[in-house]
Order: sequence, then structure tokens, then C-alpha cells
Amino acid sequence: MARVATAIIGTGFMGRVHAEQIRRLGFVDIAGVAGVNAAEAAAFGQAMGIDRTTGDYKELLADPAIQAVHVLTPNALHYPVSMEALHAGKAVLCEKPLAVSAKEASNMLKLAEKKGLVHAVNHNLRYYPIVQHIRQYIKAGELGEVLHVQGTYSQDWLLYDTDFNWRIETKDNGALRAVGDIGSHWMDMIQHLTGLSITGLCADLATFHKTRKKPKAAIQTFAGKKLKPADYEEVKITTEDYGGILLHLGDQARGAFTASQVAAGNKNKFAFEIYGTKSGVAWNQERPDELWIGNRNEPNRILIKDPSMLMGPAAGFADLPGGHSEGYDDAHKQLYKRFYARVADPSKPVDYPTFEDGRRGMVLLEKVVESSKKKGWVKVKF
Ligand SMILES: NC(=O)c1ccc[n+]([C@@H]2O[C@H](COP(=O)([O-])OP(=O)(O)OC[C@H]3O[C@@H](n4cnc5c(N)ncnc54)[C@H](O)[C@@H]3O)[C@@H](O)[C@H]2O)c1
Repeated sequence: MARVATAIIGTGFMGRVHAEQIRRLGFVDIAGVAGVNAAEAAAFGQAMGIDRTTGDYKELLADPAIQAVHVLTPNALHYPVSMEALHAGKAVLCEKPLAVSAKEASNMLKLAEKKGLVHAVNHNLRYYPIVQHIRQYIKAGELGEVLHVQGTYSQDWLLYDTDFNWRIETKDNGALRAVGDIGSHWMDMIQHLTGLSITGLCADLATFHKTRKKPKAAIQTFAGKKLKPADYEEVKITTEDYGGILLHLGDQARGAFTASQVAAGNKNKFAFEIYGTKSGVAWNQERPDELWIGNRNEPNRILIKDPSMLMGPAAGFADLPGGHSEGYDDAHKQLYKRFYARVADPSKPVDYPTFEDGRRGMVLLEKVVESSKKKGWVKVKF
């Protein structure tokens, strides 16, 4: 396989995860990293052993030796940074949600296609081996026709009014927070697995903290410690803490899910159940190697991840033998592996989520806003 030179833009949580998983691929070199300023990028470079660092991502885009970039910034920057990267001829792997509007996402898709560049949105959660097994199980007809789906993506890290992050503010995040940040994964997943598109939805959003205490920049490193009034400013909150959404999928299936960042005790409980005319399946990201299969007339079963028991192509998403867990990092790696295979060789299949999936995700988020304002059902057309 030809070697590929890539760059990372954004050095936070995702910066580290992406850098580590890129390195596991074996044929992709991290040729540079850009942060919000030179000091942040240098600190990241030192921690991760990356020599070339900069506070200005444009420097990396100007380097013809760099073939691809990972856009790992707050959401509102996905569009301008990705568009510049595409104009500079780079393949782009962008974090989700792809943009802050469907219009932006559509422009990104159009430009990537016009330039003939490889493009992906990082819906990494699709690539747990058991999740891919569920996809094959449904494709093979073992579940029957899908009747209804249900579940949640629940976290608690924004429970208190002293919890703060760029995601809280619309200017960096976009209009929707809980539904945009984690509900977007849930809706992508359920469509990916069932093969059904969301055709209608009814959303109920709640912002429990009407104001939050935003730490003044200088004390951000003390996050978690009790703030004194002088350490923060009270800001008005416009993004939701919670969303509850009813769904129509395809011609007949129904669904319901919640997305919450104030659900005490839940860290990353991304869970779904899919019920069909023959059987049901359930999965929870916090126990990623376990699949529950529900039956009406015979005992229910638990399948533990083991490549020899995964159906068809699902086995290709497990790189370790049964009993050895494959988790969050591994799911990232599986997506990047397929993205970079295509960067290195354009004849390889597109078996990762593209900007088209990201665009559909943005259409859904806009429909969630529309439904919540209208307090009723809206039809979805992609
Ligand atoms: N796929 C997933 O599982 C997953 C998980 C978490 C976050 N995300 C997504 O990843 C993105 C980043 O989230 P995060 O949790 O890493 O946030 P973070 O706050 O930890 O990191 C964001 C980084 O972007 C940098 N940045 C800001 N402006 C920049 C600029 N102009 N140039 C270069 N860097 C700049 C910040 O300095 C920071 O290092 C978001 O879009 C988020 O939705 C995806």
C-alpha cells in the first residue's frame, strides 16, 4: 500500500484519539498538526511525538506533500476549514456533525465531488464489530421487517450549571447541542443498521439550565473545582440539555429515542433496540462486545464478539480474537482504515460514511429544530 501523509487540525479530545488511531494503520504518517495557537499545537506535538506543529492550519493546507486532513475543531469551524482543505486538494475526514447547517454540508459535498476528493464524516460508532454484525443480521432477513426502534444516547457531564464547554454556545456548536452532539450518532446508526430512512419526526427539546456559569478563560484549568463568583460570568443558554424524539422510518416503522447530557450516572450510554417481525436485537456501547437477541418462541441469546461467529463482512471489523474487547478507539481505526485505503487507491470501495451521510444528518437536525418550534410532526425529505 502506498504511504499517505496526513495532518490533524484540532488538538483536543478528538485530536488525541485520531492521532493514536491513525498511527495504528501502519501506512499513514502524521506530517503536521495545527491547534488554535502555536503553544497548544506545540504541547500536543511534544506529547504525541509530532515534530511539525503550528497555530495556523493554513500552513499545513499549503503543503502539497500533505494529501489529507482530519478536521477536529468545534463544529462551527468544520465548514470553513474543510472547504479550504478541499480547495487545497486535500482529502477530508471531518468530525460530526458535519457542519452547522444543511446548506453548508451540501456545499462541502458538492465541492468534494467536483474536485474528485475522498470525503468522510466520522460516524465512527457504526464500526463496532457487533454493530456490523447487527447490520448483516438485518440484511439477511433474520430480524424480519422492522416494526419499531427505541433507545437513548445519555451522558451526565453537563448536569450542573457550572459545567461548561464550547458545545454550550450556539456560535461554536450550532443550534442543537444534545441532539446535535450525540443524537446525531443515534439517528445515523439506526438508519445505517435498518437500511430505512427517517421520513418524519416530532421533537421535544428542553433546556433545564436557562443560564450557566461560564468560567473566565484564565481559570479554565481549574474546571471541577468550586468556582467563586469572581471566577465566572452568568451566560444565557440557548442549546438544549435534552431531546426526546419520535420517528417514522420508511413506510411503516416507528421509533423513539432520547439524547441527554444531564442524565446522572450515564457516561456514554448509547443504546438501541430494534424489533422486527421475527426477532429483536439490543446493544449498548458501554458493553460493546455483547449482542442481545430476543426471540418470541425460544430462549433469548447473548452473542459475545468473536470474529468466527460474526456474519459475512462484519468479521472484517474485528481485528482481535473472541474475548478480547474491541471498543471506542478500535471503531475509529476501522473507519480510518477504509477512508485511507481509498485515499491511497481510489478504486477501493466507499465503505465509510461520506459527506452525503453528513448532509443527511444536518437535514435531520434542522427538522428537529423545526419540529420543536412548531411543537408537532414534520416530514423529512433528503
Ligand atoms: N466521533 C466522536 O465520537 C466524537 C467524540 C467527541 C467529539 N467529536 C467531535 O469532534 C470535534 C471536536 O470535539 P472535541 O471533543 O475534540 O473538542 P475539544 O474542545 O476537546 O477540542 C477542540 C480543539 O479544536 C481546537 N481549535 C479551535 N479552533 C481552532 C482553529 N482555528 N485551528 C485549529 N484548532 C482549533 C481547540 O483548540 C481544541 O484543541 C467536534 O466537532 C465534536 O462534535 C466527535
